[in-house]
Formats: sequence, structure tokens, C-alpha cells
Amino acid sequence: MKVFIKNIKDYVGQEVTLEGWLYNKRSSGKIKFLIVRDGTGFIQCVVSKKDISEQEWDIIDKLHQESSIRVVGKVSFFEKAPYCKHELTVSKFELVSNSQEDYPISHKEHGIDFLLENRHLWLRTPKQNAIMKIRHRIIKSCRDFFDNKGFVLVDAPIFTPNACEGTTELFEVKYFDDSAYLTQSGQLYMEAAAFALGNVYCFGPTFRSEKSKTRRHLTEFWMIEPEMTYIDLEDNLKIQEEMVSYVVQEVLKSCQDELKILERDTTKLENIKAPFPRLSYTDAVELLKSEGSNIEWGSDLGAPDETIIASKYDKPVFIHRFPTICKAFYMKPDPENPDVVLGADLLAPEGYGEIIGGGQRIDDYDLLLQRIKDHNLPEDAFKWYLELRKYGSVPHGGFGMGIERCTAWICGVEHVRETIPFPRTIYRIYP
Ligand code: 4AD
Ligand code: MG
Repeated sequence: MKVFIKNIKDYVGQEVTLEGWLYNKRSSGKIKFLIVRDGTGFIQCVVSKKDISEQEWDIIDKLHQESSIRVVGKVSFFEKAPYCKHELTVSKFELVSNSQEDYPISHKEHGIDFLLENRHLWLRTPKQNAIMKIRHRIIKSCRDFFDNKGFVLVDAPIFTPNACEGTTELFEVKYFDDSAYLTQSGQLYMEAAAFALGNVYCFGPTFRSEKSKTRRHLTEFWMIEPEMTYIDLEDNLKIQEEMVSYVVQEVLKSCQDELKILERDTTKLENIKAPFPRLSYTDAVELLKSEGSNIEWGSDLGAPDETIIASKYDKPVFIHRFPTICKAFYMKPDPENPDVVLGADLLAPEGYGEIIGGGQRIDDYDLLLQRIKDHNLPEDAFKWYLELRKYGSVPHGGFGMGIERCTAWICGVEHVRETIPFPRTIYRIYP
């Protein structure tokens, strides 16, 4: 019977067929230990010379790392077995395709540039497997969260005629005889969709030509962006903390093996339950000053500032009411103090920085037009966006969570480049 390694525990005592690749091999006289992977897991397969034909034994002898193979054998439970507490005693072996001798990723340590250059192969290793599976679970939980609440998934376009998050970070592309930009966020389209459908969300790739080489920046990343009508900032924050708690708890429930492979300290995640603390930007600046920072009111928080603030809490923390001058044109000023906006960033614990940005949108036509002009944005490209404020405007808001930053935090992985299958950064667009 053909089985997947992840289900192997259900077949103890039975003979099964595994189809996969040779991850590693060692020999000890008349016994060979093969570590076989099939995408769902890794398992040790024990081959005794006496159990198989001479021909099979010779093939195994010459087998190179990452050869694709089919093995038949009996499953046994073995507490000390590497990878999955089970072993396969092989009775039949078949080579599907021999890998060449020069497989680049050996079991030695490799430098990060080399690994990134070989990302198409690096993905086969246990840690990278684990990160991709947790990423999948995070995306699925976000979608389940909104689907269960009745949000409608609406896909936003990738080609756009205008900026959303600042004109300095736009990728311009040829669009027939004209030019277009790759989307920086689906938000503006979600606002139109929300006025049509109520609560909506989009999930897709977004692009920023950010020249930053930090561990938090990619030029292409994935974002989940809900947009909600008839809500205020506090409603918005409640949904965010509920979503983040749900996602973390779902990962804890279904990805224990993966978290173990990553050696993640899960006690830090168990505590991630709503409500999350809220700190105004103004109070955050006071706190930073008292910690010796020379930040001045009116400047955006840098990564070190975020780390200092986050270190005060064992949960994610909302920083709300940023200075209007730090934030995007569409953010609604606080009626009680128009120098700040009704927006918030959510900072992850343990120094992972901002994982969510969001807030209330300007719902007044004249004010929005003024802000578009203040930001020197092309008015005609925003005609449709302005019209939303002409025809039945309502208080509304939403947020965007970067999947890679969230994955980096939950996995405890230092750099976002390992949390997306094929990272694009200022220096890398290969493979
Ligand atoms: O704070 P940002 O720029 O907000 C928006 O794009 C809003 N339009 C979202 C909305 O309200 N619908 O980006 C949101 C999140 C950040 O908190 C971060 O997690 C992620 O997107 N992000 C990046 N992730 C990786 N690389 C980058 N260069 C990123 N820029 C933003
Ligand atoms: Mg932001």
C-alpha cells in the first residue's frame, strides 16, 4: 500500500510503499540506513543485505543524495529513530531516477548566499519544509478566520494606475504604450468592494521597490487585507487581535512537529491571546525617551524603537494614533486631535517588528481630495477612489498583515527571506 510518511504511525506492523527521495545515507557493514523524504516527512529506512537482491544492494551502494526512489518495507515503532519515531525495514528497493553526484547542498553548513542561490533545492531540507508548512497553516487560518465571519474574498488587481503606500516605492512596468505600477496594497480596491459587499478581504502578492536590506523587507510579499464598513478604530483593533490569536493558536494546534524542527520556544506563543495592549504613539515616544532614545515626536518609529517597545510586553502591542505626517494619505485624522491619525501598527513580540498596519480611512470627499493634493498624487488616477466618498460614504477601515513577517515571528526565524518560497529582494531575483 502506498502511504505518506506523515501517516506512517497508522501502519505499524504493516508492509507499505514509500515514494520519495534519498535525503541521506550511511552504511555499517551489511546494513545501510537511508533517510527518505517524501515532502510530508522524513523517515529512516533500514536495509539489510540479506533482505534484498544483490542487484538492489549495488544500486543502493551507488545511490547519490536526492535520487528519487521507491521503497517497500515493514513499519515499526522505534522511539529513538531519527525524524519520526518510526522506521522502515526495507524488503524491496527501486530506483526511479539517479541524482547526479554533484548535488550542491550537502549535510555540511552552507553560507546564506549559497543557499539562496540554490533556493529551488534548499526548500527540500527539514527546516525549510517546516517553515513552508507553517506559512501554509498561517494563510489557511487567516482565510478560515475571515470566511467563518462571512467576509467575502475579493481579488485586487496587480496592475494599478496609482500609488497606495508612497510614490517612492513603486515598481513601474511597461503597459503597452503606457506605464502602470505593480500594486503596493489591495486596500483601495477593497474599499470599493466593501461598499459593494460589506466585509471583504483580499489576499495576494504586493510589491515595493524598497531599497532596504533589512531582515524585514522583501520587494515582493504577500498580504491579507480585510476591509470593513461601519466600524471604528477600536472595532478594527479587536478583529486584529482576535485574528492574530486565532492564527497563533491554530499553528500551535497543528504544527507542533514543525515548531520542534525549528526549535521554536512555544511557551512564548502559548501566551498570544487577545486582548493585546494598546499604547498611543505619543506615550510610546515618552517611553522611548525614558529609555535613552533620541526620537522626536513626529518621526516614524525605527526598527530599534519597535524592539524597545515590544520588549516591554509578552504579547503583540498596538501603537495607535501616529502623527498624520508619518502616515499614508488616506488615514483619517483623529477628530479630537487632527495632528494624529486613527490608525495603528501591531508590533510582534521578540523584536520581529510591525506585522500589521491599518486604521480608519478618510470618508469625507473634500478632506480626501485635499490630502491627495498635499501628497502630490495625480488626482485623475484617484477619481474612482474619490467617488466612493461621493456616493454613500460610510465610516470604514481595515488593515494589512504581511504573511512573511508574521511567519518569521511565529517560526522564530531571523529573516523574512526564509519565509517565502522564492524571495525577491533588492539584490535577488534568482531563482
Ligand atoms: O503598513 P503597510 O504599508 O500597510 C498597507 O499596505 C495598508 N494599505 C494595509 C491596509 O490597511 N489594508 O503594510 C502592511 C504590512 C506591514 O505591517 C508588514 O507586515 C507588511 O505589510 N510589509 C512588508 N513585508 C515584507 N516586506 C516589505 N517590504 C513590507 N512592507 C510591508
Ligand atoms: Mg506600515
